[in-house]
Amino acid sequence: MPDSAGPAKGHRIFAAVYDRMSAPVEQAVLGPRRASLVGPLTGRVLDVGAGTGANLPHYRAADEVVALEPDPAMRRRLAARTDECRVPLTVDPSGADALPATDGSVDAVVFTLVLCTVPDPVRALAEARRVLRPGGRLVALEHVVGDGRPAVWRRRLAPLWSRIAAGCRLDRDTAATVGAAGFTLDEVEHLTVGPAWAPTARLVQLRATAAPASR
Ligand SMILES: C[S@@+](CC[C@H](N)C(=O)[O-])C[C@H]1O[C@@H](n2cnc3c(N)ncnc32)[C@H](O)[C@@H]1O
Repeated sequence: MPDSAGPAKGHRIFAAVYDRMSAPVEQAVLGPRRASLVGPLTGRVLDVGAGTGANLPHYRAADEVVALEPDPAMRRRLAARTDECRVPLTVDPSGADALPATDGSVDAVVFTLVLCTVPDPVRALAEARRVLRPGGRLVALEHVVGDGRPAVWRRRLAPLWSRIAAGCRLDRDTAATVGAAGFTLDEVEHLTVGPAWAPTARLVQLRATAAPASR
């Protein structure tokens, strides 16, 4: 199991409270966005760091979804709700740094609330680009550092937050990292959920296309 997945038994407390903790914002904001991001994806889809499976009920058009989750505590919960997925689904323990797919064999890669937590987002995105076919889609919904004064103190709080929130970083600028990783950003939407000063209030939702390998 990768280090980022924490102790050998996983982040058991985080896994136990995750769904309850996120329920209000999930219902009001994240759920509909998950549906619009992952619902239309077709072909073979990798859902990286699938957690407890919040995206599962929203897949509608994919031929196959592989839900990757290296943390055993999260993965147990994910595996317990596979029947909520309406398309063929496989659960896999691989992490973002070594995706279980050959070059150019995947139609879409999904990151939701996970590029904040993977230890090396540049590597994760390089892996996504490797496995995606030319023109393949990357979709993401992530909390980010944002700007202005909230960004200043998110950067200050990031090391402490990472220790208490299973490695989650508050100081990432995910849209910029995706752009730098060789993706064309097709749509980028920034949104604020709840009070602007809240640690995870600033989100980015994006759709991107894997550029041809020669670029
Ligand atoms: C905040 S949760 C988000 C879960 C889910 N994607 C969602 O939208 O609710 C972050 C997830 O990233 C997973 N994770 C941590 N390190 C990872 C890595 N290196 N590769 C893949 N997933 C990882 C964690 O185990 C956790 O399930």
